[in-house]
Amino acid sequence: MSSKHRVALIGAGDMGHHHAAAWADLGHELHTVIDLIPQRAEDIASKYGTSRVICGGPEEYKAGIDGEIDIVDICVPLEYHAPMTVYAAEQGKHVFCEKPIARNFQEVKQMRRAVESANVKFGLGFQRNLAAGVDMLREWASTGVFGCPMVFSSDLLQEVRPKRFMHNRNSNNGPIVDACCHYFLLWQTVFRSRPKTVYARGGTAGKLREEIAHFEQLALDTAVITIEFESGDVGAMTVSWGLEKNTKLSGRPDRIVGPKGGAEAVPGANFHWDLDLYHDGGKTSHQLPQKDLFAEELSAFVEAVDGLRSSPVYGFATGKQMLAVSLAAIESINTGRVVEVKYDE
Ligand SMILES: NC(=O)c1ccc[n+]([C@@H]2O[C@H](COP(=O)([O-])OP(=O)(O)OC[C@H]3O[C@@H](n4cnc5c(N)ncnc54)[C@H](O)[C@@H]3O)[C@@H](O)[C@H]2O)c1
Repeated sequence: MSSKHRVALIGAGDMGHHHAAAWADLGHELHTVIDLIPQRAEDIASKYGTSRVICGGPEEYKAGIDGEIDIVDICVPLEYHAPMTVYAAEQGKHVFCEKPIARNFQEVKQMRRAVESANVKFGLGFQRNLAAGVDMLREWASTGVFGCPMVFSSDLLQEVRPKRFMHNRNSNNGPIVDACCHYFLLWQTVFRSRPKTVYARGGTAGKLREEIAHFEQLALDTAVITIEFESGDVGAMTVSWGLEKNTKLSGRPDRIVGPKGGAEAVPGANFHWDLDLYHDGGKTSHQLPQKDLFAEELSAFVEAVDGLRSSPVYGFATGKQMLAVSLAAIESINTGRVVEVKYDE
């Protein structure tokens, strides 16, 4: 049984709301909520009986990391993941941070150094990969239901994001860094193998859009990415965050195929999906249990903090691997070459 911890939540946006609900469900104290926008912090604070709200400039979060707090939960844009993790670890706090881990390897190194010197735990939010369907696909793949090699293909097609920082190259750096990491991790988990090479073509479809024109550097927002894994399996995706307004084109469902069969995701609510399996000439539909994925990942993190398991579900190793694949895809687009994924600096 885990102890009750006092949490400071930085970032009261969408992910902040999900995490706040999970902390409450798990019986921990959401002690402090911090956001640049007072109304957002107040909304969460009033819902969960939070005793302290801190608002102000981008450095104000430091005022909420003090002796009252055990865990700092970071749900803000990517440029803050490294400095906030480093600061919180230096204050002796355990840190849970939303994906992606950071903007580059140098930031990951700084985060890791701070966490290791302070001997605190670091967990990374990749809750989607805890969905029951991932385990089921992994099981089918490993028992040869699809045969080899397998091809996993995914689509993500959306309009220019209303959260502008997603398009800033110096922040979340577009979908290749921000969103594709979920798919890279999914494929890697199902194939039980690491990405080896990446070939990608793409550009910035939303470059003429006024709402993001103020950024000094715009992220790539549209790409076709093909990844060959060490196992010989292949992951492929078409991604765009650059569609015109009101272009409600939905991507094709995630699907995996091999010489012996295939499976297709049937998406539901709350990051949940069911699966249709095609095998032995027939089709079976599999309804999967809906789990609270945020509570599951935070619960595992707290168990690691309490010494009940050796590490959180995901941390530096996974975060850095996914970043390596994203950076390889960007390099491939920029050079026109097939790029080997570099896992080390
Ligand atoms: N795991 C997932 O499925 C998933 C889904 C969406 C987003 N994310 C990640 O979560 C993070 C946050 O995304 P979001 O969708 O919640 O964004 P959001 O815009 O909904 O919320 C971010 C909040 O952070 C606040 N903020 C920004 N800078 C701050 C600072 N310096 N100090 C205090 N508050 C600050 C903003 O005011 C905003 O309220 C991103 O890294 C994103 O990639 C993960």
